[in-house]
Amino acid sequence: MIRPPEQFETSRLRLRPVEMKDAAEIFENYASDRLVTRYLHWDTHDNVEMTKTFIRRCINVWKAGTAFPWVLCLKDTESIIGMIELRLEEHRADLGYVLARDYWEQGYAPEAAQLVLDWAIAQPNIYRVWAVCDLDNHASARVLEKIGMQREGILRRWLFHPNIDREPRDCYVYALVK
Ligand SMILES: CC(C)(COP(=O)(O)OP(=O)(O)OC[C@H]1O[C@@H](n2cnc3c(N)ncnc32)[C@H](O)[C@@H]1OP(=O)(O)O)[C@@H](O)C(=O)NCCC(=O)NCCS
Repeated sequence: MIRPPEQFETSRLRLRPVEMKDAAEIFENYASDRLVTRYLHWDTHDNVEMTKTFIRRCINVWKAGTAFPWVLCLKDTESIIGMIELRLEEHRADLGYVLARDYWEQGYAPEAAQLVLDWAIAQPNIYRVWAVCDLDNHASARVLEKIGMQREGILRRWLFHPNIDREPRDCYVYALVK
């Protein structure tokens, strides 16, 4: 079974597995922010209990080896500014990420995503690293382009984004293959 490192570093970020003690910070910094969660597949958190439930899931998927969510911490202050997750299935891996609003448009998501993408595509048994984003999520599409993924097309009615729509929405699919 392939397992990525628990700790990663970029020039500005430290990536590490999420812990239960992070709940209040994650809740306050982005999980409760309706603008941040607009294009995500989970409901905006109304209370810190929802964040704790989410963290329990993160801990369990690491144990099961099916998905690997890391919190993104600023190296200088250790504050949590977001999260990135890699999910493995057969020879494929897919990525998802989120960043607190105060840290948008400073290149943090591509910095973290590039590292995780490079690790994944370097694994002998991973041939495809991919991601989807809502057709209206232009910032996320730019992140995927900047890390070298190619837009392959549109997956129609692919994902529920419950904070904007009750029906499944069309998404762009991006991938890097070898
Ligand atoms: C998507 C997200 C992770 C981007 O992270 P980031 O670190 O701000 O990314 P960048 O700094 O590379 O900036 C985003 C890029 O999109 C562009 N952008 C930002 N908002 C945009 C908008 N509304 N329309 C078009 N482009 C936009 C920026 O100009 C930048 O492109 P550029 O470098 O070519 O100028 C961040 O906006 C976020 O967390 N959004 C909410 C959660 C989310 O949508 N996650 C992805 C789910 S698929």
